[in-house]
Amino acid sequence: MILGEELVSVEPATGNIMWRGVAGDVDVTVDRARQGFRRWAMEPLARRMELLRRFVNVVRKHDGAFAELIARETGKPLWEARTEVAAVMGKVEISITAYAERTGFTRRDVDLGGSMSLRHKPHGVMAVLGPYNFPAHLPNGHIVPALIAGNSIILKPSEKTPAVADFLVRCFHEAGIADDVVQCLHGGPDAGKALVAHEDVNGVLFTGSARAGIAINRKLASNPAKIVALEMGGNNPIVALPTPLIADAAATVIQSAFMTSGQRCTAARRLIVVDRFYDDLVPAVKALADRLIVDEPFANPQPFMGPVIDNAAADQLGDAFLELMSRGGRPLSHLRRPDPNLPLLEPGIIDVTTLEERPDVELFGPLLQVVRVADLDEAIAEANATRYGLSASLIGGSPEDYERFWLEVNAGIINWNKPTNGASSAAPFGGIGLSGNHRPAAFYAADYCAYPVASNTQEQPRAAIAMGLRD
Ligand code: NAD
Ligand code: SIN
Repeated sequence: MILGEELVSVEPATGNIMWRGVAGDVDVTVDRARQGFRRWAMEPLARRMELLRRFVNVVRKHDGAFAELIARETGKPLWEARTEVAAVMGKVEISITAYAERTGFTRRDVDLGGSMSLRHKPHGVMAVLGPYNFPAHLPNGHIVPALIAGNSIILKPSEKTPAVADFLVRCFHEAGIADDVVQCLHGGPDAGKALVAHEDVNGVLFTGSARAGIAINRKLASNPAKIVALEMGGNNPIVALPTPLIADAAATVIQSAFMTSGQRCTAARRLIVVDRFYDDLVPAVKALADRLIVDEPFANPQPFMGPVIDNAAADQLGDAFLELMSRGGRPLSHLRRPDPNLPLLEPGIIDVTTLEERPDVELFGPLLQVVRVADLDEAIAEANATRYGLSASLIGGSPEDYERFWLEVNAGIINWNKPTNGASSAAPFGGIGLSGNHRPAAFYAADYCAYPVASNTQEQPRAAIAMGLRD
């Protein structure tokens, strides 16, 4: 949060200030990153990989403290924060494999003793802009592949989670990666804007809302030299056809909609259920939602979900729920907020079938809209009634139904009998429409962290003009 000249981080579960800092200097940071890039890009690939493997050991050494910090600053339960730390560590080996597979080195001999080769060069200084919901794992998902490729990094974290970003960057330094190769630049959207526009920044790797991503895209539209990867939000559908496994179907819906208090880009926002399965599934989802423990991240027993990030987010979600009700939505579970001074929200479920126009917005929290449809045709049309296209899932149905769903639904992740979220780092991760700009992250991050250079070479010039010469 920005308080005048100061940046402060407020613990969602308590309202206490847990970190204070000031905004960084964009010009100074970019100058340092340029110097860092010159040295880092010259390091052999094997050395860069070795230092990143050391980074994993450093994170492992501090894993308990790291998870506690993530839990405090985001409000997510400690068990879940531990899974984020595990994802940070897992990223390195996945990215080393991806670098070799996606951007490796190839060479073949051609005539006259020459060779054709393909190698990849780093872009230079990369700005990584991160969101608050995974303040370590998601920036790290850009940083690690970009470092392997030889870029230097400026991380501009969310102003809501600066402490985790500092911790992450310190782990790179403790591993032996120089201070000017990975830096943290604190600040709000204005710092992000200045960084994105800086002429000495060669690439922008953004994870956040469609609103900010589009603003970045617009800003850089006349600058094709800068590589821009945009990982944005979603208004993700989970479609339910009949299955005898009702409890499992309900649990899959709950995981999709309410994990991380619904603060995942891949969270299911819309449960689209066919008429003949509605009375089996929807009461089961409601009953399970009513049992979810919502509490502070270190509570015992551990909660399923913690608070949303701050009171402003909780207010907005509350307003959105009321707005859906005022348009004719039928609440199945109210989005209760037991303490109006804290952002702890109980999961909200609302049937919006009768709404004439359903708002196509990302409601980033524990709020699930339910739509009743006649059949799979209508379900697919409803699933596609969005400008976003990040993730989608089908529950129940046959292999043929899933094949049709896969072909006709517009999204970058299309699952069957699995949640819409929990994407694997070992697969490409990205969406279409307002969800991304066709530069998927995770396994395919290697593609935007380096550019291909094709070379045709031989040790001596050997050429003759065979045609078109005067005697
Ligand atoms: P946000 O867009 O508000 O902020 C993200 C980052 O961009 C922050 O560092 C912020 O300071 C910066 N920023 C904001 N406006 C900017 C601008 N005009 N120019 C440059 N930088 C700017 O996002 P958030 O609220 O922190 O995170 C939640 C959002 O992130 C949700 O929409 C969620 O779906 C999305 N998200 C997407 C993915 C994905 O991989 N597709 C993953 C996680 C979260
Ligand atoms: C996210 O990046 O917000 C969630 C990733 C996932 O759980 O699929």
